[in-house]
Amino acid sequence: MATTVLVGAQWGDEGKGKIIDVLTEQADVVVRYQGGNNAGHTVEVGTEKYVLHLVPSGILYPGKLNIIGNGVVVDPAALLEEINHLQSRRIAVNGNLLVSNRAHLVFPYHRLLDSIREEQKGKRKIGTTKRGIGPAYADKVARTGLRVVDLLTPEKFSEKLRRKVRETNEIARAFGARPLSFKTINGEYLAIARKLKPFITDTIKLLNRLERDGKQILFEGAQGTMLDIDFGTYPFVTSSNTTAGGACAGTGIPPHRIDKVIGVMKAYTTRVGEGPFPTELHDDQGSQLRETGREFGATTGRPRRCGWFDAVVSRYSVMVNGLDELAVTKLDVLDTLPKIKVCVAYKLDGKVTDTVPADVDAMQRCVPVYQEFDGWQASTKEAREFSELPKKARAYLQKLAQLTGAKLAIVSVGARREETIFL
Ligand code: IMP
Repeated sequence: MATTVLVGAQWGDEGKGKIIDVLTEQADVVVRYQGGNNAGHTVEVGTEKYVLHLVPSGILYPGKLNIIGNGVVVDPAALLEEINHLQSRRIAVNGNLLVSNRAHLVFPYHRLLDSIREEQKGKRKIGTTKRGIGPAYADKVARTGLRVVDLLTPEKFSEKLRRKVRETNEIARAFGARPLSFKTINGEYLAIARKLKPFITDTIKLLNRLERDGKQILFEGAQGTMLDIDFGTYPFVTSSNTTAGGACAGTGIPPHRIDKVIGVMKAYTTRVGEGPFPTELHDDQGSQLRETGREFGATTGRPRRCGWFDAVVSRYSVMVNGLDELAVTKLDVLDTLPKIKVCVAYKLDGKVTDTVPADVDAMQRCVPVYQEFDGWQASTKEAREFSELPKKARAYLQKLAQLTGAKLAIVSVGARREETIFL
């Protein structure tokens, strides 16, 4: 398998959790490198369903090492809750989970600021998950953040925290929000720190050693390419580099040590939160995709916006991530449709374009140019080999790969592990 990065190639929720889960069998180490508990990776094992937010999906396999890298923003209360929840479901979490001492921490004041900023934006709100992710990354870049390593020196931690709470409370008061209590947060975090201590380590050194020893490392991207802070539909994005490059900055593994990049994309498109989405369907067709695909957010429960596959986005994704292989998920959701459309280009102000515009308002004005396909109108759920798929489904998948410009490697036809086709 070698060192592999797996990323979302659309707007997140592509079904990465399931693909990571099936690839984990061959991996020794699974690593999260960006984002935080804004992510929600759903994995179904037998009759059990797990939704992971911060803990890498490898935790569901015995004997795998799971690492939360330096690029992740960690809400320690949420992490502890997730660990407790997994343990209550008899998933072992002990020496198999490690957290980077350089990862930044998320605090209640980040969540408060996230809410205040969203309210202030009114109609231009981003539709964040309100987990405090943006403000936590803002503190990191402004060099005022607290990191996991700070939890290990209580006195210094409290001093820094006191300053941060005082500063945030000034903002809170200005916007009529209730100020936060330093004492409460400090007490809670120091108690959590004692519990998390065994998980904290220098993951950079460890990961590089494991990589040199020939261990198989799988980097688990969260969110998707179009939510990347640099490459996405800014400002309607998340605050981290969700693309493959983020794996290096977020873990300390050098770029030339990455062997392969896999992009996960749905056989159609979804998006949660606000922002441009050229192929969005506002009609019954959209509702049908939402119902059949059970398109409701794993973290916030919000209904996802649904639309046709967008090859402009997927080509862009292949380019910025250097995708070697594609994993197409949720093919079965299209099983009953008589006609299926794929966006092959955009029409922007009367001109045809095949690139993603930088200006978000220009992207809002993009009208998809569609190519229509006959649906296969048969179940794909039982197929375990590519040759077992209906002919029209194979043609559809081959067209997606051709339009996108990467090799089709995995097709998922259901949430369960066995509902997977390897090409
Ligand atoms: P934030 O990451 O909470 O700041 O939210 C910023 C944008 O990213 C919003 O549109 C969210 O809906 C979206 N977002 C964040 N995490 C995920 C995810 O895991 N899946 C899909 N969308 C996400």
